[in-house]
Amino acid sequence: MSEVLQIDGVHHRYGASAALAGVGVTVRAGECVALLGPNGAGKTTLVGLATGLLTVQTGRVAVCGGDPRRAATRRHLGVVQQKMGFPTMLTVAELVRGAAVRAGRSAGAAGPVLTEVEITDLARRRAGKLSGGQQQRVALAMALVGDPDLLLLDEPTVGLDITSRRTFWQTIAARRDAGAGVLLTTHIVEEAAAVADHVAVLHRGRVVTADTPAGLTALLPDRTITARTVLGDGVLQALPGVRSVRRDGDRVRVATAEPEHVLRQWLGLDDGLADLRVEGAGLERALFALTGEGTEDRDIEPTEVPA
Ligand SMILES: Nc1ncnc2c1ncn2[C@@H]1O[C@H](COP(=O)(O)OP(=O)(O)O)[C@@H](O)[C@H]1O
Ligand SMILES: [Mg+2]
Repeated sequence: MSEVLQIDGVHHRYGASAALAGVGVTVRAGECVALLGPNGAGKTTLVGLATGLLTVQTGRVAVCGGDPRRAATRRHLGVVQQKMGFPTMLTVAELVRGAAVRAGRSAGAAGPVLTEVEITDLARRRAGKLSGGQQQRVALAMALVGDPDLLLLDEPTVGLDITSRRTFWQTIAARRDAGAGVLLTTHIVEEAAAVADHVAVLHRGRVVTADTPAGLTALLPDRTITARTVLGDGVLQALPGVRSVRRDGDRVRVATAEPEHVLRQWLGLDDGLADLRVEGAGLERALFALTGEGTEDRDIEPTEVPA
C-alpha cells in the first residue's frame, strides 16, 4: 500500500512551549487513521504541518511523497479545518464549485459531491444561513470535490448529533474504500473506534499508543450499559462479558468491556429491553488507563447503540 502521509520524528514548538514532542504517524491509501486526543494534545498542530499551513521545525512531513508547502503537493489534499470561516454571502453551490475549480476540476464536479454529502437541497442557501452541522457537511463537500488522495479532517464532527455523525462516518468510509487515505482527529473514543482502521492516541504532544480500534478497546476501562429490563440481576451477572451489575431506581447498570457482545445476548433474553444507553469510557478515563495521568477534559459522552 502506498503512503499518502508520512510523519516522522516531528517536534513543534510555539515559543518556549512544545506542542509536539517526537510524533510519527503514517497513513496509507485506502486506510483511515484516527488521531485521538484531548484538547491541547497537538492534533491541530499536526494537521497544520500536514496541510502546509505550519512550517516543519524538526522531523519530516510528506504528503504523497512531497512537501505540503508546495502547491503541487497540496493538490493531493482535501482538508476540513477545525475552525473554518465561510464567506457568508456565497451559496453552498458557489462554495463547492469554487473549491472544485481551486482543486483543478471543473465547476461541474460540485453536483455529484453535493449528492454524496446529502446537501443538494442546500445548494442555493447562503453560507451565513447554515446551521453548524450543515456547515460541517459543506466543509466536507469542499474537501471531497478535488477527489483527494489524502483527507485531513480536524475534529470534523464536533457539534453534530449522532445521526449526522454516522452519515459523516459513512461518507468518509466510502471514500476510504474507494482508495483515499484519511487522517481524522477526534476527542471521542467511540468516533475513533467507529471509523478508523488504526488509532493513534496523542497526549501532550506524544503518541502514547497506536493500535487497531479493537486493540484499543481492549485496553480501555469498562463501558456501562444502562436499561430497563425484566431480567434479574443474577441472570445479567451470568452473561459472559459482564463485570458487574447495579440497580439504579428502575434501571440497571451493567459494566462491561464488550458491550456489543453483552447486548446481543441480553436482547436475545429480553425483547422488552427499554431505555437502552451505552456510555463510553470517555477519553479522560481511557488516557488515565493508558498513561496514569489525568487531563482537563470531561468528555464522557453517552452514545446510542448501533442498530
Ligand atoms: N498559535 C499558537 N501559539 C501558541 N501556542 C499554541 C498555538 N497553537 C496551539 N498552541 C498550543 O499548542 C498545544 C497544542 O495545541 P493544538 O495543536 O491546537 O492541540 P489540539 O488540536 O489537540 O487541541 C496547546 O498547548 C496549545 O495551547
Ligand atoms: Mg485542535
